Amino acid sequence: METIDLRSDTVTRPGPAMRAAMANALVGDDVFGEDPTVNSLEERVAELFGHEAGLFCPSGTMTNQIAVHVLTRPGDEVICDEGAHIYRYEGGGVMATSGCSVKLIHGDRGRFTAVQVEASINDPGAAWLARTSLVGIENTCNRGGGSVWDLSEVVRIKAVCAAHGLGFHMDGARIFNALAVTGERPADWGRHFDTFSLCLSKGLGSPVGSVLVGSKDVIHQARRVRKRLGGGMRQAGILAAACHFALDHHVERLHEDHLRASRLGEVLQELHYVDRIMPVVTNIVIVTLARDLKADAFLAALRTQGVLAAAFGPNMVRFVLHHDVDDAALGNAIRTLRKLEP
Ligand SMILES: Cc1ncc(COP(=O)(O)O)c(C=O)c1O
Repeated sequence: METIDLRSDTVTRPGPAMRAAMANALVGDDVFGEDPTVNSLEERVAELFGHEAGLFCPSGTMTNQIAVHVLTRPGDEVICDEGAHIYRYEGGGVMATSGCSVKLIHGDRGRFTAVQVEASINDPGAAWLARTSLVGIENTCNRGGGSVWDLSEVVRIKAVCAAHGLGFHMDGARIFNALAVTGERPADWGRHFDTFSLCLSKGLGSPVGSVLVGSKDVIHQARRVRKRLGGGMRQAGILAAACHFALDHHVERLHEDHLRASRLGEVLQELHYVDRIMPVVTNIVIVTLARDLKADAFLAALRTQGVLAAAFGPNMVRFVLHHDVDDAALGNAIRTLRKLEP
């Protein structure tokens, strides 16, 4: 019985064509700026999102935390949603690496409004308050069940940031999932932010890699921070080649993951052990279990049947569709879920 892994879209494994692209990559020492495959990936992503420069990093955590570091000073405050990855899942980096506090907004499945941002900005004249210096948003929102932002609200938030001199960062780990829904282009989004992070290792299926884009000046500063954090890689073109491959071949197929997620959501909704389900918009399905059923017990029962999902709270479970789950695998997972008596 083959395991069907629905824990995350980070579990994908590179196939033979991606591995061949990696094996054949032109490489050099990237700390010296001499890796042609890394350089072309950085330029490609910067251009896609309408920015001057890019920085290849080992992870989305690193691109996010470097952005926070460059756009703040110790003692500042960062505004983000209470479920934001930069706050919740990055090892306390905003506090430990950048010395900043956070002002959490209670958003609508990860999304908030310009009015909420305005209300969260500390009075700069009050010396006893932290200086608000950055707003961070995430698209799609992981804890929001893959929810998608409305660009017009982002434009309004940008106006608030500009009026108050705040930086604006996008955690675009799954931005291409959002664009697959709205039909917008990367540059429609990129230009509103000071820094924009794209992950190639989520739905796009590369084994490693995120790119941070911004102005030449911001990326120059970011490069030093990356080095300081130990993220300066040498012949990283082998990894950047996988990212190029992902951009060439795995963007157009994302809507397939969304269709499968929507199918899974419909099935889960009917099952007696599911109480609630968040609206399914992209590749993430989050359910709340019924009857005091604990996520850990449910996941253990599911695992014995060869299906993996992730706990998302004491009685919440997340399923994520991705490149390595085709219709047959989804069909098997659905049969298992229907038979399960947790
Ligand atoms: C929304 C979001 N941002 C950032 C990250 C961080 O990515 P990484 O695991 O590459 O550090 C993740 C990881 O799953 C994520 O879901």
